[in-house]
Amino acid sequence: MRSGFRWTTFDLTSSLSGDWQQEIAAAAAEAEFREFPRTPILSRESQDVQYIFRGRVHASDVRRNLPWLYRLYREDFLELAQEACAEPVMAARDDRYGIVLNVQRGTEMRFECHVDSNPLTGLLFCTDHLAGAGGELVFAHDSAAADIDAVDRDCSVIRPHAGHLIFFDGRDHPHYARPLLSWSDVRIVAVMNFYTKSFPESTRPQELNHHLFGQR
Ligand SMILES: [Fe+2]
Repeated sequence: MRSGFRWTTFDLTSSLSGDWQQEIAAAAAEAEFREFPRTPILSRESQDVQYIFRGRVHASDVRRNLPWLYRLYREDFLELAQEACAEPVMAARDDRYGIVLNVQRGTEMRFECHVDSNPLTGLLFCTDHLAGAGGELVFAHDSAAADIDAVDRDCSVIRPHAGHLIFFDGRDHPHYARPLLSWSDVRIVAVMNFYTKSFPESTRPQELNHHLFGQR
């Protein structure tokens, strides 16, 4: 049997401080919303898709406005990441891509279909989305899936639950976040890059930093 995609979920709903969702929502309201160009190397969008409309709270703003979340990434969440992985796990040393927020507002935004460059990704879902409301995170079973239609043909679908922290290896499973179906809905997820002993931060493609930050 072909080994399928798998992920680990930790339910932190009773562990996070009382107003964590409101604090993250306030930070997400300041997100940069625009069309982001497709990502070099990692994109698995159809060739006719050059831009994807979405929101991003950059790592520097997460660190400044949500210092407790930045700390969790480097401490408690790192410990949980270690539980989900058989080899030593490290947070990113480079603060530019350690932890960011991805934000979707209304029905026009989604997150780019891509593969990850890092061997372990953590996602903290910060909003709830009922079945049929859109916003699902979708992983292809076929590593060759080259657009969202191909991903959708054979996939694992994860519905976001606020306070659920998941870990996965997304290097060989193209994935994307579906659009929301209500114009008034908001989807927020904290995205964390982790590295491992056998796949350290030094493996991160230089071209990716150049694309995202304009320097190497
Ligand atoms: Fe990813």
